[in-house]
Amino acid sequence: MAHYEYARAHPLWETAKNGCSAGQRCDRGHACRSRLDHRPSQARPRHTLGDDAVTQDPVSPRRTSALGAAVVCHSFGMRRSTPSSTAQNVALVRSHLTWLGVLDDRFAEGMLRPRWALLEKGMRWGPARRMGRNRTFAWLAARTHFFDDAVTSALAAGVRQVVVMAAGYDSRAWRLAHAGVRFYEVDHPATQRDKRRRAPAGGPAYVPVEFGRDSLEDALRLAGFRPDEPSVFTIEGVTMYLTEPQVRDLLETVRRLSAPASRLAVNYGLGVEAAATRTSRVGALLARVQFAMSGERITYRPAVAQAEALLRDTGWCPQETRTAPDLVREYVAGTTLPTTDIRPSAFAVNAVVS
Ligand SMILES: C[S@@+](CC[C@H](N)C(=O)[O-])C[C@H]1O[C@@H](n2cnc3c(N)ncnc32)[C@H](O)[C@@H]1O
Repeated sequence: MAHYEYARAHPLWETAKNGCSAGQRCDRGHACRSRLDHRPSQARPRHTLGDDAVTQDPVSPRRTSALGAAVVCHSFGMRRSTPSSTAQNVALVRSHLTWLGVLDDRFAEGMLRPRWALLEKGMRWGPARRMGRNRTFAWLAARTHFFDDAVTSALAAGVRQVVVMAAGYDSRAWRLAHAGVRFYEVDHPATQRDKRRRAPAGGPAYVPVEFGRDSLEDALRLAGFRPDEPSVFTIEGVTMYLTEPQVRDLLETVRRLSAPASRLAVNYGLGVEAAATRTSRVGALLARVQFAMSGERITYRPAVAQAEALLRDTGWCPQETRTAPDLVREYVAGTTLPTTDIRPSAFAVNAVVS
């Protein structure tokens, strides 16, 4: 059972520090500033669960749904030859959030494998409805909106290449399709193979790559990607499964492939459910078992300052860092999902080439 050494307070404050080394401005003329920061030493749980898992937060003891935990436990994991179960998990959540009217991802349901589709249908009825009204779902809804906005604002600024890293069952290549815009989806070959069985026609150029094993640069160039043209890269829901050297390598590679005016959106950290009841501890234990079985282990959980420092080191200039509570308040308020007591250890960053 996890015991957390989690700070009771996570003060957030506007910081006026210049985010880039040498105090430079980014080449697009933006002042490089971090909007939010928090104290890393206060935000490190001693044990971790997986991304998108139901987790505990003694800041706000609250009952959560064991059925919710069952959602994150309903998987048999990613091995080298099997598709990612966490990616199916996120697609299930997006499908359910669409049913709830919180998201508009009409492609998510069709991307589910049969047993996941059945589970999502089950969540719509009776007491099972509680599953879809927890903080982890609220965070995933906000995260989806954050990345959607990163892509749509880049397209509005004239960017014509979108690279979705570790795409899973992402549907932006269909939802955000735009004349003259090319989408590339990079993912582990096993997940990508599975996705292509159910994905609608058209969509992205598929680029199978296993990070830390295959050359991302070669694979993207081979797929027709143009490093001399501005791009927007999304790195959603995957940094936590990589080691810090792998994340560094990914950021460096993406930077090498980035023409001036290119952008990056990336998120860090785990699920944000707040709970400390017996029921939720059972859920948390099941979630830990699932992650232990899946091979999708959590290996990288930086604090905001560490993540921003690595971005700067690799040639990126963080423009805006938003914590999970911020994003949930911004995007999920007014829905049936909870918007309070969201853990700030998950966050997302918009960056530009420096
Ligand atoms: C939690 S899913 C996120 C999927 C998608 N970005 C989303 O948010 O719905 C994690 C994704 O990372 C991919 N992944 C994990 N480890 C990987 C690796 N070493 N190389 C390439 N992809 C990897 C999995 O295939 C999966 O699609």
